[in-house]
Amino acid sequence: MKERVANNYGSFPVVFTKGKGAQLRDIHGKEYIDFVSGIGVNCLGHNHPALVTAIQKQVEKQIHISNYYISDVGVSYTDALLKATEMEGVFYCNSGAEANEAAIKLARKYGFGIQAQKKTIVTLKQSFHGRTLTTLSATGQEKFHPESFAPYTPDFKHMKANDYAALDFIDASVCAIMIEAVQGEGGVNLIDADWAQALEKKAREVDALFIVDEVQTGMMRTGSLLASTTLGINPDIITLAKGIAGGVPMGACLFRGRASDVFVAGDHQSTFGGNPLALAAAKAVLKEINTECMQNHVIKMGEKIQNTIRSWNLDIIQEVRGRGLMIGIDINFEAAPFQKACLDNGLCVTTAGLKTLRFLPPLIISEAEIETGLAIFREVLTA
Ligand SMILES: Cc1ncc(COP(=O)(O)O)c(C=O)c1O
Repeated sequence: MKERVANNYGSFPVVFTKGKGAQLRDIHGKEYIDFVSGIGVNCLGHNHPALVTAIQKQVEKQIHISNYYISDVGVSYTDALLKATEMEGVFYCNSGAEANEAAIKLARKYGFGIQAQKKTIVTLKQSFHGRTLTTLSATGQEKFHPESFAPYTPDFKHMKANDYAALDFIDASVCAIMIEAVQGEGGVNLIDADWAQALEKKAREVDALFIVDEVQTGMMRTGSLLASTTLGINPDIITLAKGIAGGVPMGACLFRGRASDVFVAGDHQSTFGGNPLALAAAKAVLKEINTECMQNHVIKMGEKIQNTIRSWNLDIIQEVRGRGLMIGIDINFEAAPFQKACLDNGLCVTTAGLKTLRFLPPLIISEAEIETGLAIFREVLTA
């Protein structure tokens, strides 16, 4: 495998064969508790009956038809998605980076329509928006800008999150401000609701589009369908991916109001975008996750994880923070060896930055699975 797949990922030498709910099994029959869910993708866990049935049924009808045509599942899912998110239109694609590329192109065209020089896009330090050259340029972390990949897309500026003074530097040259509702890859960093609202006000003052990248936070991950709702903001554009179709590759760039009529036919396209198979999966996911019961479960399980870890009072832990089932644990050491030790002991966790361990379990995870996972986690931290 290693010789044939480009070694960009540095994958662990474990081979999974199947999963059920929040549990995985490897080729040796060893069981694991999954606190990663494919980096926030498998929101319904593994092998969820509603998702499996929806995919099976769609495969028998049609897998792909191209965007020359419209699919019946496309019509019904789009209605449901726009109603649930209170957005007015959507561009479908295949990943988070692609959804953000669409948002960035839309914003540049919006700015150009006002004034040719209105091109600057402001994002946040410690942000992460994807791995294409333009979404890397949007990403506010130096480690993602090595000279080897230069030149990057120009006219991106990175400002400090939760900093009111920084708002003064946003002027009429800015065509868009883009933030994550909770910074994921940058360390599970929370954004103050008051500051996010002030940022949105500033965006409207200078006629810049307000984009919220909900690729990681969206689809109930933080205990509301969209994390921007919790922040009390009304973005012009919201991007989604990861959990949107429960594991089938899919991204979406949603827009409303000022951003609604910017794209015209031919402006932006994607061969696989809005593929009926992905939309059928997304439709099943939306139905399962967008309920009060799921919302209460995510909030309750998130609190359980955070409170349990805090109650241990371990010296190695500096801080526990997060929202819903998106949780970061800062430790006094590099996180990567602990990620590996957890895996060896039957628990999948991920990292977010040098010293932060991150949990993104499936939204359907049970209390018992959390207790088993946390017992392994504690053992690894105290070994
Ligand atoms: C906030 C955010 N935006 C964009 C991306 C990129 O998504 P993808 O890997 O699907 O391109 C990620 C991936 O981790 C993300 O967390």
